[in-house]
Amino acid sequence: MNNEMLVLGFESSCDETGVALVHWHGSDLPVLLGQALHSQIDMHQPYGGVVPELASRDHIRRVLPLTAHALAASGRALTEVDVVAFTQGPGLAGALLVGSGVACALAAALGKPVLGVHHLEGHLLSPFLSADPPNFPFVALLVSGGHTQLMRVGGVGNYALLGETIDDAAGEAFDKSAKLLGLPYPGGPGLARLAEHGNPAAFSLPRPLLKSGNLDFSFAGLKTAVMVQVKRLSVARAEPVESWPAQLLADLAASTQEAIVEVLVKKALSALRATGLDRLVVAGGVGANRELRRQLDSACGKLGVRVHYPEMSLCTDNGAMIAMAAAMRLQSGQQTPSTTYAFDVRPRWSLTALPVS
Ligand code: KG4
Ligand code: ZN
Repeated sequence: MNNEMLVLGFESSCDETGVALVHWHGSDLPVLLGQALHSQIDMHQPYGGVVPELASRDHIRRVLPLTAHALAASGRALTEVDVVAFTQGPGLAGALLVGSGVACALAAALGKPVLGVHHLEGHLLSPFLSADPPNFPFVALLVSGGHTQLMRVGGVGNYALLGETIDDAAGEAFDKSAKLLGLPYPGGPGLARLAEHGNPAAFSLPRPLLKSGNLDFSFAGLKTAVMVQVKRLSVARAEPVESWPAQLLADLAASTQEAIVEVLVKKALSALRATGLDRLVVAGGVGANRELRRQLDSACGKLGVRVHYPEMSLCTDNGAMIAMAAAMRLQSGQQTPSTTYAFDVRPRWSLTALPVS
Protein backbone atom coordinates (compact mmCIF):
# COMPACT_ATOMS: atom_id res chain seq x y z
CA MET A 1 0.00 0.00 0.00
CA ASN A 2 1.26 3.51 -0.91
CA ASN A 3 2.05 5.89 1.89
CA GLU A 4 0.71 8.81 -0.12
CA MET A 5 -2.57 9.13 -1.98
CA LEU A 6 -4.87 11.58 -3.70
CA VAL A 7 -8.54 10.67 -3.18
CA LEU A 8 -11.38 12.11 -5.25
CA GLY A 9 -14.72 11.81 -3.42
CA PHE A 10 -18.34 12.13 -4.59
CA GLU A 11 -21.43 12.72 -2.45
CA SER A 12 -24.87 12.36 -4.05
CA SER A 13 -27.01 10.54 -1.47
CA CYS A 14 -29.77 13.14 -1.17
CA ASP A 15 -30.09 16.79 -2.19
CA GLU A 16 -26.47 17.96 -2.28
CA THR A 17 -23.94 17.18 -5.00
CA GLY A 18 -20.44 17.35 -3.53
CA VAL A 19 -17.02 16.65 -5.03
CA ALA A 20 -13.70 16.99 -3.16
CA LEU A 21 -10.03 16.09 -3.27
CA VAL A 22 -8.21 14.92 -0.15
CA HIS A 23 -4.51 14.10 0.11
CA TRP A 24 -2.82 11.94 2.74
CA HIS A 25 0.80 11.32 3.35
CA GLY A 26 2.34 8.87 5.84
CA SER A 27 0.61 8.97 9.20
CA ASP A 28 -0.40 12.64 8.95
CA LEU A 29 -4.12 13.41 9.07
CA PRO A 30 -5.44 13.65 5.47
CA VAL A 31 -5.83 17.22 4.18
CA LEU A 32 -8.63 18.72 2.10
CA LEU A 33 -7.16 20.27 -1.07
CA GLY A 34 -10.34 21.60 -2.64
CA GLN A 35 -14.04 20.97 -3.00
CA ALA A 36 -17.17 22.03 -4.86
CA LEU A 37 -20.75 21.76 -3.66
CA HIS A 38 -24.21 22.39 -5.04
CA SER A 39 -27.34 22.34 -2.88
CA GLN A 40 -30.69 21.48 -4.50
CA ILE A 41 -32.69 23.07 -1.67
CA ASP A 42 -34.13 25.85 -3.89
CA MET A 43 -35.24 23.27 -6.46
CA HIS A 44 -37.08 21.09 -3.91
CA GLN A 45 -38.54 23.94 -1.82
CA PRO A 46 -41.79 24.38 -3.80
CA TYR A 47 -42.59 20.69 -3.14
CA GLY A 48 -42.01 20.91 0.64
CA GLY A 49 -39.43 18.09 0.55
CA VAL A 50 -36.94 16.21 -1.62
CA VAL A 51 -38.39 14.84 -4.87
CA PRO A 52 -36.15 11.80 -5.56
CA GLU A 53 -36.42 11.83 -9.37
CA LEU A 54 -35.62 15.56 -9.56
CA ALA A 55 -32.69 14.99 -7.19
CA SER A 56 -31.19 12.27 -9.43
CA ARG A 57 -31.55 14.37 -12.58
CA ASP A 58 -29.94 17.39 -10.94
CA HIS A 59 -27.00 15.30 -9.67
CA ILE A 60 -26.43 14.20 -13.29
CA ARG A 61 -26.41 17.83 -14.48
CA ARG A 62 -24.08 19.08 -11.74
CA VAL A 63 -21.58 16.34 -11.06
CA LEU A 64 -19.08 16.83 -13.92
CA PRO A 65 -18.92 20.66 -13.78
CA LEU A 66 -18.45 20.37 -9.98
CA THR A 67 -15.66 17.84 -10.53
CA ALA A 68 -13.88 20.35 -12.78
CA HIS A 69 -14.31 23.03 -10.09
CA ALA A 70 -13.01 20.79 -7.30
CA LEU A 71 -9.94 19.85 -9.38
CA ALA A 72 -9.29 23.50 -10.27
CA ALA A 73 -9.65 24.54 -6.61
CA SER A 74 -7.12 21.83 -5.68
CA GLY A 75 -4.65 22.69 -8.41
CA ARG A 76 -4.55 19.01 -9.36
CA ALA A 77 -5.27 17.10 -12.57
CA LEU A 78 -7.72 14.20 -12.82
CA THR A 79 -4.86 11.93 -13.94
CA GLU A 80 -3.12 12.47 -10.58
CA VAL A 81 -6.04 10.88 -8.65
CA ASP A 82 -5.14 7.53 -7.02
CA VAL A 83 -8.56 6.41 -5.73
CA VAL A 84 -12.11 7.49 -6.58
CA ALA A 85 -14.50 7.34 -3.60
CA PHE A 86 -18.28 7.73 -3.60
CA THR A 87 -21.20 7.56 -1.17
CA GLN A 88 -22.50 4.01 -1.52
CA GLY A 89 -25.38 4.45 0.96
CA PRO A 90 -27.59 4.98 2.81
CA GLY A 91 -29.65 7.41 0.75
CA LEU A 92 -31.95 7.71 -2.25
CA ALA A 93 -31.27 4.84 -4.67
CA GLY A 94 -31.40 6.91 -7.86
CA ALA A 95 -29.30 9.72 -6.39
CA LEU A 96 -26.69 7.27 -5.09
CA LEU A 97 -26.49 5.63 -8.53
CA VAL A 98 -25.38 8.92 -10.10
CA GLY A 99 -22.37 9.29 -7.80
CA SER A 100 -21.57 5.60 -7.99
CA GLY A 101 -21.89 5.58 -11.81
CA VAL A 102 -19.69 8.62 -12.32
CA ALA A 103 -17.09 7.43 -9.80
CA CYS A 104 -16.88 3.97 -11.38
CA ALA A 105 -16.76 5.36 -14.94
CA LEU A 106 -14.00 7.86 -14.09
CA ALA A 107 -12.01 5.27 -12.17
CA ALA A 108 -12.31 2.70 -14.97
CA ALA A 109 -11.21 5.30 -17.55
CA LEU A 110 -8.23 6.28 -15.36
CA GLY A 111 -7.38 2.67 -14.55
CA LYS A 112 -7.69 3.50 -10.83
CA PRO A 113 -9.63 1.69 -8.07
CA VAL A 114 -12.89 2.79 -6.43
CA LEU A 115 -14.05 2.82 -2.82
CA GLY A 116 -17.68 2.95 -1.64
CA VAL A 117 -18.13 5.03 1.52
CA HIS A 118 -20.87 4.88 4.16
CA HIS A 119 -22.54 8.32 4.29
CA LEU A 120 -22.74 8.32 8.10
CA GLU A 121 -19.07 7.41 8.39
CA GLY A 122 -18.45 10.54 6.31
CA HIS A 123 -20.40 12.64 8.84
CA LEU A 124 -18.74 10.83 11.75
CA LEU A 125 -15.22 11.56 10.51
CA SER A 126 -15.97 15.11 9.23
CA PRO A 127 -14.67 16.75 12.47
CA PHE A 128 -11.20 15.47 11.43
CA LEU A 129 -11.34 18.17 8.72
CA SER A 130 -11.70 20.90 11.35
CA ALA A 131 -8.98 23.04 12.89
CA ASP A 132 -9.52 21.14 16.16
CA PRO A 133 -9.64 17.44 15.21
CA PRO A 134 -10.50 14.88 17.94
CA ASN A 135 -8.46 11.90 19.10
CA PHE A 136 -9.90 8.38 19.37
CA PRO A 137 -11.76 7.05 21.31
CA PHE A 138 -14.83 9.28 21.59
CA VAL A 139 -18.59 9.27 21.88
CA ALA A 140 -20.26 10.44 18.66
CA LEU A 141 -23.65 12.12 18.51
CA LEU A 142 -24.76 11.71 14.90
CA VAL A 143 -27.68 14.01 14.19
CA SER A 144 -28.70 14.25 10.56
CA GLY A 145 -31.96 14.53 8.65
CA GLY A 146 -32.41 10.77 8.55
CA HIS A 147 -30.44 9.46 11.56
CA THR A 148 -29.99 10.12 15.27
CA GLN A 149 -27.44 7.82 16.87
CA LEU A 150 -25.00 7.70 19.75
CA MET A 151 -21.91 5.63 19.00
CA ARG A 152 -18.73 4.64 20.77
CA VAL A 153 -15.96 5.25 18.25
CA GLY A 154 -12.75 3.39 19.03
CA GLY A 155 -10.99 4.17 15.75
CA VAL A 156 -11.63 4.21 12.01
CA GLY A 157 -14.15 1.44 11.33
CA ASN A 158 -14.60 0.67 15.02
CA TYR A 159 -18.14 1.82 15.73
CA ALA A 160 -20.41 0.47 18.48
CA LEU A 161 -24.01 1.63 18.51
CA LEU A 162 -25.05 2.86 21.97
CA GLY A 163 -28.53 4.10 21.12
CA GLU A 164 -30.62 5.50 18.27
CA THR A 165 -34.02 6.91 17.45
CA ILE A 166 -36.88 4.46 17.39
CA ASP A 167 -38.88 6.71 15.02
CA ASP A 168 -38.11 10.20 13.65
CA ALA A 169 -34.59 11.63 13.53
CA ALA A 170 -33.74 14.94 15.26
CA GLY A 171 -33.43 16.64 11.86
CA GLU A 172 -36.85 15.29 10.91
CA ALA A 173 -38.29 16.67 14.17
CA PHE A 174 -36.88 20.10 13.26
CA ASP A 175 -38.12 19.87 9.66
CA LYS A 176 -41.63 18.55 10.43
CA SER A 177 -42.20 21.05 13.26
CA ALA A 178 -40.94 23.86 11.01
CA LYS A 179 -43.43 22.81 8.33
CA LEU A 180 -46.24 22.99 10.90
CA LEU A 181 -45.11 26.57 11.65
CA GLY A 182 -45.36 27.41 7.95
CA LEU A 183 -41.60 27.51 7.27
CA PRO A 184 -40.16 26.34 3.93
CA TYR A 185 -38.16 23.11 3.47
CA PRO A 186 -35.75 22.23 5.03
CA GLY A 187 -37.11 23.87 8.13
CA GLY A 188 -34.32 23.10 10.62
CA PRO A 189 -32.17 26.21 10.02
CA GLY A 190 -35.31 28.42 9.66
CA LEU A 191 -36.80 27.13 12.92
CA ALA A 192 -33.45 27.76 14.66
CA ARG A 193 -33.39 31.35 13.35
CA LEU A 194 -36.97 31.95 14.49
CA ALA A 195 -36.19 30.45 17.91
CA GLU A 196 -33.46 33.05 18.55
CA HIS A 197 -36.12 35.61 19.50
CA GLY A 198 -38.46 33.21 21.31
CA ASN A 199 -39.01 32.05 24.87
CA PRO A 200 -37.99 28.36 25.18
CA ALA A 201 -40.22 27.96 28.26
CA ALA A 202 -43.36 29.42 26.63
CA PHE A 203 -44.83 26.02 25.71
CA SER A 204 -44.59 22.79 27.65
CA LEU A 205 -43.63 20.11 25.11
CA PRO A 206 -42.71 16.45 25.76
CA ARG A 207 -39.11 15.25 26.21
CA PRO A 208 -39.54 11.78 24.70
CA LEU A 209 -37.63 8.87 26.32
CA LEU A 210 -35.67 11.30 28.51
CA LYS A 211 -36.05 8.99 31.49
CA SER A 212 -36.07 5.71 29.54
CA GLY A 213 -32.88 4.50 31.19
CA ASN A 214 -31.32 3.71 27.81
CA LEU A 215 -29.70 5.79 25.07
CA ASP A 216 -32.53 5.58 22.53
CA PHE A 217 -34.46 8.59 21.23
CA SER A 218 -38.02 9.16 20.02
CA PHE A 219 -39.11 12.37 18.31
CA ALA A 220 -42.39 11.44 16.61
CA GLY A 221 -44.46 12.41 19.69
CA LEU A 222 -42.87 15.85 19.81
CA LYS A 223 -43.97 16.59 16.25
CA THR A 224 -47.51 15.51 17.22
CA ALA A 225 -47.41 17.78 20.30
CA VAL A 226 -46.37 20.73 18.11
CA MET A 227 -49.23 19.89 15.72
CA VAL A 228 -51.72 19.87 18.62
CA GLN A 229 -50.47 23.29 19.79
CA VAL A 230 -50.72 24.74 16.27
CA LYS A 231 -54.28 23.43 15.85
CA ARG A 232 -55.38 24.54 19.34
CA LEU A 233 -54.00 28.07 18.93
CA SER A 234 -55.26 28.44 15.36
CA VAL A 235 -58.80 27.64 16.56
CA ALA A 236 -58.51 29.85 19.67
CA ARG A 237 -57.14 32.80 17.66
CA ALA A 238 -59.42 32.11 14.66
CA GLU A 239 -56.48 32.57 12.29
CA PRO A 240 -54.09 30.17 10.50
CA VAL A 241 -50.49 29.83 11.63
CA GLU A 242 -49.35 32.06 8.72
CA SER A 243 -51.18 35.01 10.35
CA TRP A 244 -49.82 34.52 13.88
CA PRO A 245 -47.77 37.34 15.42
CA ALA A 246 -44.01 36.85 15.04
CA GLN A 247 -43.46 36.54 18.81
CA LEU A 248 -45.91 33.64 19.16
CA LEU A 249 -44.24 31.77 16.29
CA ALA A 250 -40.83 32.46 17.80
CA ASP A 251 -41.99 31.18 21.22
CA LEU A 252 -43.29 27.90 19.77
CA ALA A 253 -40.10 27.52 17.65
CA ALA A 254 -37.90 28.15 20.71
CA SER A 255 -39.91 25.70 22.85
CA THR A 256 -39.63 23.02 20.12
CA GLN A 257 -35.90 23.55 19.70
CA GLU A 258 -35.44 23.44 23.49
CA ALA A 259 -37.23 20.06 23.71
CA ILE A 260 -35.04 18.54 20.97
CA VAL A 261 -31.81 20.04 22.29
CA GLU A 262 -32.47 19.06 25.91
CA VAL A 263 -33.00 15.41 24.94
CA LEU A 264 -29.89 15.36 22.71
CA VAL A 265 -27.71 16.96 25.41
CA LYS A 266 -28.93 14.75 28.28
CA LYS A 267 -28.59 11.53 26.25
CA ALA A 268 -25.12 12.54 25.05
CA LEU A 269 -24.08 13.13 28.69
CA SER A 270 -25.53 9.71 29.65
CA ALA A 271 -23.49 8.11 26.85
CA LEU A 272 -20.32 9.79 28.14
CA ARG A 273 -21.08 8.51 31.65
CA ALA A 274 -21.85 4.99 30.39
CA THR A 275 -18.62 4.73 28.39
CA GLY A 276 -16.40 6.67 30.81
CA LEU A 277 -15.05 8.67 27.84
CA ASP A 278 -14.23 12.37 28.03
CA ARG A 279 -14.52 13.36 24.37
CA LEU A 280 -17.68 14.02 22.38
CA VAL A 281 -17.91 14.46 18.63
CA VAL A 282 -21.06 15.96 17.13
CA ALA A 283 -21.74 15.37 13.43
CA GLY A 284 -24.55 15.71 10.88
CA GLY A 285 -26.74 18.61 9.79
CA VAL A 286 -28.30 19.28 13.23
CA GLY A 287 -24.74 19.72 14.52
CA ALA A 288 -24.94 23.19 12.92
CA ASN A 289 -27.59 24.18 15.47
CA ARG A 290 -26.13 26.96 17.63
CA GLU A 291 -28.34 26.29 20.64
CA LEU A 292 -27.29 22.61 20.63
CA ARG A 293 -23.64 23.71 20.48
CA ARG A 294 -24.14 26.26 23.27
CA GLN A 295 -25.82 23.78 25.64
CA LEU A 296 -23.36 20.97 24.85
CA ASP A 297 -20.36 23.28 25.36
CA SER A 298 -21.78 24.48 28.67
CA ALA A 299 -22.72 21.04 30.05
CA CYS A 300 -19.54 19.33 28.83
CA GLY A 301 -17.35 22.21 30.00
CA LYS A 302 -18.55 21.61 33.57
CA LEU A 303 -17.60 17.92 33.30
CA GLY A 304 -14.21 18.51 31.69
CA VAL A 305 -15.40 16.86 28.46
CA ARG A 306 -14.03 18.20 25.16
CA VAL A 307 -16.57 18.65 22.37
CA HIS A 308 -15.55 18.59 18.71
CA TYR A 309 -17.70 19.77 15.81
CA PRO A 310 -17.22 19.81 12.06
CA GLU A 311 -16.73 23.26 10.53
CA MET A 312 -20.20 24.86 10.14
CA SER A 313 -20.05 24.48 6.34
CA LEU A 314 -19.23 20.74 6.66
CA CYS A 315 -22.12 19.84 9.01
CA THR A 316 -24.56 19.23 6.18
CA ASP A 317 -23.81 16.90 3.26
CA ASN A 318 -20.64 17.53 1.25
CA GLY A 319 -17.99 15.73 -0.80
CA ALA A 320 -15.12 16.57 1.56
CA MET A 321 -16.39 14.24 4.29
CA ILE A 322 -16.69 11.37 1.80
CA ALA A 323 -13.16 11.87 0.41
CA MET A 324 -11.91 12.22 4.03
CA ALA A 325 -13.62 9.02 5.24
CA ALA A 326 -12.20 7.14 2.24
CA ALA A 327 -8.70 8.54 2.89
CA MET A 328 -8.86 7.61 6.58
CA ARG A 329 -10.05 4.07 5.76
CA LEU A 330 -7.24 3.64 3.23
CA GLN A 331 -4.63 5.16 5.54
CA SER A 332 -5.62 2.95 8.47
CA GLY A 333 -5.49 -0.13 6.23
CA GLN A 334 -9.15 -0.66 7.07
CA GLN A 335 -10.07 -1.23 3.45
CA THR A 336 -8.42 -1.72 0.09
CA PRO A 337 -10.08 -0.09 -2.92
CA SER A 338 -11.58 -2.27 -5.61
CA THR A 339 -11.17 -2.49 -9.38
CA THR A 340 -14.55 -4.16 -9.77
CA TYR A 341 -16.61 -1.32 -11.15
CA ALA A 342 -20.02 -2.55 -10.02
CA PHE A 343 -22.77 0.04 -9.48
CA ASP A 344 -23.45 -1.44 -6.08
CA VAL A 345 -25.37 1.11 -4.02
CA ARG A 346 -26.92 0.39 -0.61
CA PRO A 347 -29.91 2.69 0.02
CA ARG A 348 -30.37 1.03 3.45
CA TRP A 349 -27.12 0.32 5.27
CA SER A 350 -26.30 0.18 8.97
CA LEU A 351 -23.05 1.83 10.05
CA THR A 352 -22.40 -1.06 12.43
CA ALA A 353 -22.41 -3.44 9.44
CA LEU A 354 -19.04 -2.03 8.35
CA PRO A 355 -16.04 -4.32 8.90
CA VAL A 356 -14.47 -3.85 12.35
CA SER A 357 -10.68 -3.50 12.69
O1 KG4 B 1 -26.67 15.62 7.59
P1 KG4 B 1 -27.66 16.30 6.71
O2 KG4 B 1 -27.15 17.36 5.77
O3 KG4 B 1 -28.45 15.31 5.81
C1 KG4 B 1 -28.66 13.97 6.09
O4 KG4 B 1 -27.71 13.17 5.95
O5 KG4 B 1 -29.80 13.69 6.49
O6 KG4 B 1 -28.75 16.91 7.69
C2 KG4 B 1 -29.83 17.66 7.23
C3 KG4 B 1 -30.69 17.99 8.43
C4 KG4 B 1 -32.02 18.60 8.05
O7 KG4 B 1 -33.02 17.96 8.80
C5 KG4 B 1 -31.86 20.07 8.46
O8 KG4 B 1 -33.07 20.71 8.79
C6 KG4 B 1 -30.97 19.93 9.67
O9 KG4 B 1 -30.03 18.94 9.28
N1 KG4 B 1 -30.28 21.18 10.01
C7 KG4 B 1 -30.52 21.88 11.14
C8 KG4 B 1 -29.70 23.04 11.09
N2 KG4 B 1 -28.99 23.00 9.92
C9 KG4 B 1 -29.36 21.85 9.28
N3 KG4 B 1 -31.35 21.62 12.18
C10 KG4 B 1 -31.36 22.51 13.19
N4 KG4 B 1 -30.62 23.63 13.21
C11 KG4 B 1 -29.78 23.93 12.20
N5 KG4 B 1 -29.05 25.07 12.25
ZN1 ZN C 1 -25.99 13.54 5.63
